[in-house]
Amino acid sequence: MMLKPDAVRAGHTGAILSMIQNAGFKIVAMKMTQLTRAKAEAFYAVHKERPFFGEFVDFMTSGPIVAAILEKDNAVADFRKLIGATNPEEAAPGTIRKLYAKSVGENAIHGSDSDENAAIEAAFHFAGVERFD
Ligand code: RTP
Ligand code: MG
Repeated sequence: MMLKPDAVRAGHTGAILSMIQNAGFKIVAMKMTQLTRAKAEAFYAVHKERPFFGEFVDFMTSGPIVAAILEKDNAVADFRKLIGATNPEEAAPGTIRKLYAKSVGENAIHGSDSDENAAIEAAFHFAGVERFD
């Protein structure tokens, strides 16, 4: 997962990490870092043909993010339930995006959409020595 620059800038890091841990996710790796343009473009390469891509990369590189690897049974589906819909106006009450997202673009948090992509994204951010079981 990543806490996006809007959430970090607004000081929501602690509150969101608390929600994640209280929901039963174990943090096995975590760092604060700032994405370069090349890294943001690579991370979100599946979206590169979408009209918002340039603006989205501007946003994702606009300040530090917090990246983490989380573990839980059924983690991908349960995490997407915890974060809520992409558009905060459609996000269920009590979800992270309902509470902290500003808009469909600046939506506070990223969650992997499959176990396969979670493994790819974990390797994108973390070396083996940065992971703890
Ligand atoms: P994410 O990958 O960040 O967890 O978000 P998601 O699955 O809920 O949404 P996805 O369709 O994968 O879109 C990735 C991110 O692109 C931004 N977005 N902006 N301006 C727009 O219409 C628009 N649509 C998507 C959002 O930040 C979204 O999380
Ligand atoms: Mg996605």
